[in-house]
Amino acid sequence: MSEKDVITFPGGKVDVTWDGRLCIHIGECGQAQGELFVGGRKPWCKPDLVDIGHVVEVVESCPSGALVYQSREGGVTERADAENTVTVVYKGPYFMRGDLEIEGAADNMPGVSYRAALCRCGKSMNKPFCDNSHETAGFQDYGAVGEKGQALGETGGKLSVRLIPDGPLILSGNLTIRASSGRKAWQGNNIALCRCGASANKPFCDGSHTAAGFKSD
Ligand code: SF4
Ligand code: FES
Repeated sequence: MSEKDVITFPGGKVDVTWDGRLCIHIGECGQAQGELFVGGRKPWCKPDLVDIGHVVEVVESCPSGALVYQSREGGVTERADAENTVTVVYKGPYFMRGDLEIEGAADNMPGVSYRAALCRCGKSMNKPFCDNSHETAGFQDYGAVGEKGQALGETGGKLSVRLIPDGPLILSGNLTIRASSGRKAWQGNNIALCRCGASANKPFCDGSHTAAGFKSD
């Protein structure tokens, strides 16, 4: 994937940009009611057919950060969720939302400052981002979370995501982890999450990446 996979759909008040380097085809956009995105139509996205509030709602529902909007009048800009969250997706990636600072994100990927899908099966060819390789790899974790962490005194603020070479994701900042059921499972402000797919204590790293011979590059 390259920058030519980034397409902007201009509108009178707001432009919408789709980034093919990040899209994992979850379909929140295409499934949304209304005329903003219509599969098979050219162009696929027409920002002028709906009001700006609808654009904001649908674009911000994109879990990968592939969709962003740019208001021409400068009146509307995306804000980070008040709480940083990681949802452990059933047999899939981590969905992250909040005030994100992700190592490895290109400067021209503005959406991943708020929303991102990160690989946790170890097989993505686009690490740290998910590229749906968990499907062909037959990744089998169901997204339960067995630990609680400690209660948070406050939520929000910057959440930094560092990538340990051949090892886990290190998350620093106020964070809530949700199990795939949606349950608020873990809270804390420093945690190592498995991204090799081999931990026996998912979603947490238990050091198995070494025995598994995980290579992050
Ligand atoms: S919601 Fe985002 S990740 Fe899902 S298909 Fe649309 S652009 Fe792609
Ligand atoms: S990254 Fe998977 S066990 Fe450490």
